Amino acid sequence: MNAFLPQALEKQWEWFDLCHPDWRFVAKHELHRKHGDVFAVISPGCLSVEVADAEVAAEIISRSRYDFVKPTWPYSLLNLFGDNVLSSGGATWRRHRKATASQFSNTIHKQAWTKSLVLGQELLSIWTNNHATVSTVANIAPDLEFLVLRVILSVGYGATAHLNYRTDVSGVPDTGRTSRFAAAMDQVLSNLTKLLMLPNRVLKHGPSHWQSVYESATDVRTFLEDLIWTETQKQKRNLTVAGDSQEANNVLSGLVRQGICSPKGENGREEQSHLSDEEVMGNIFILAFAGAVSTADSLKYSLVLMALHPDIQEWLIQDIEEAINSSGEDTTNPLEWKEETVLSRLVAPYCVMLETLRHYPPVTGINKSTGDKEQLVTFNGSLVLLAEDVNVNMSLTALHHNPKYWGKNALVYCPQNWDTRCACDWAESTSNAPEMSDTTAGTPHVRNPVKGSFLAFSDGARGCLGKRFAQVEFVAILTLIFRQYRVELAVRETESLEDVRRRTQMILDNSASTPTLSLQTPVPLQFMRRN
Ligand code: HEM
Repeated sequence: MNAFLPQALEKQWEWFDLCHPDWRFVAKHELHRKHGDVFAVISPGCLSVEVADAEVAAEIISRSRYDFVKPTWPYSLLNLFGDNVLSSGGATWRRHRKATASQFSNTIHKQAWTKSLVLGQELLSIWTNNHATVSTVANIAPDLEFLVLRVILSVGYGATAHLNYRTDVSGVPDTGRTSRFAAAMDQVLSNLTKLLMLPNRVLKHGPSHWQSVYESATDVRTFLEDLIWTETQKQKRNLTVAGDSQEANNVLSGLVRQGICSPKGENGREEQSHLSDEEVMGNIFILAFAGAVSTADSLKYSLVLMALHPDIQEWLIQDIEEAINSSGEDTTNPLEWKEETVLSRLVAPYCVMLETLRHYPPVTGINKSTGDKEQLVTFNGSLVLLAEDVNVNMSLTALHHNPKYWGKNALVYCPQNWDTRCACDWAESTSNAPEMSDTTAGTPHVRNPVKGSFLAFSDGARGCLGKRFAQVEFVAILTLIFRQYRVELAVRETESLEDVRRRTQMILDNSASTPTLSLQTPVPLQFMRRN
């Protein structure tokens, strides 16, 4: 619209840009190019500062424990099954974070690797009709969501059932209890907005679809309560027999265990360091929510992007080939690949994940607040005073497309830029403060961008708890697919490849936050067997 307006009016109309519900995703770095890398949006309701400057973002994120706290009220709706680490603040958050973070051990990550390969292979054979040479999948989204959820359920809760996908062609539905739970959980996650917005009594007496969403939420609650009760009884029995020496083998048992073993205060009263059953339930649900949704979305985007960019796909396939061949593992049987020998060799799949998250981060802005105190922050070498109750928003899509850090081709999708073995036109990172985790996550040959310029997982005290889990799962599934298949855009007889490419790019550009950034229209893909 701005193109048609006289210059004097143009500034007024810029408000329209900010009224788009996904304006950060749409505008990328454009508004910051006009108004600077840090600007304020003043509205009757509040004062917000938008940040696309990496140094400022890094400082704010590193001070997010006390000075720039996360406003938790927008997340309170997620307390559907109990208080949790994502939605709490202050001392309560510290208790949740301590209890949940300690569950993400090497054992859990190894399990995530194995389960991703096993369940991913199962999905692949369903998609490709038992490994046919060519097969088309009309909509990869629901199956990928279900796959990722299954990995979390089995690693998180120890649920081991083989669950039927919605596109299952085997015709043998699994009617086991865990399967029903996964289906209920899947329905809850897909209808989260309804569950968060509508009161229970409206859902319960509303149209039949609403009623079934309500019933699924009730099923999930009952199942979680049963799981926690059974696990508590089991652990109490084990503790009496074997003492405190056994390692928890899933997140749920770890959380229950720390509850039972947490130190007792005087007169045997438990100190407020452990989580109550309700809080364990809240965290188990939130880990499934936070983990399943964002990882599945990154996988969906990556498959579509690989189909849209066959040259990048070729580079990915070659790198996977070299990694598997040099690992000393059985190259023909993915289920034999060991995490410790294969994962760190898989550079290109991890670069695809990072580049996909640079362009399509599930969360497009990370919110912090100055709270009840004024705060000083350094910008362009000067100290700037921010008043109390100011919202500070790290605009990820602006930071992730700022040419200052990503070069003149910042808008171009290019995973090779993350690979130190390839040429790259970014500005190199010069520092890594100890409180900021690095992007490489133990994978050699992965380039670190400028500190604070890439925040898809956030960072600092409130950084993503499941970053490693997501990396392991994503890399395992992507490798599994491209070790065996090439993926192409499915073209109907009535259209040309160019039409389909244009339509796919439009679908990518029309992504929307619902509540996390995701594709709103399915992109049919064709899977071609490689050998
Ligand atoms: C591609 C995958 C993922 C991405 C991009 C991602 C991104 C993020 C981001 C940006 C935050 C900070 C949100 C904010 O402050 O507003 C966050 C927090 C969190 N993430 Fe992830 N996440 C991913 C996967 C996972 C997985 C697999 C799990 C668990 C299994 C997980 C669990 C959490 C939790 C519990 C928090 C809250 C931490 C806290 O507030 O202390 N995430 N994630």
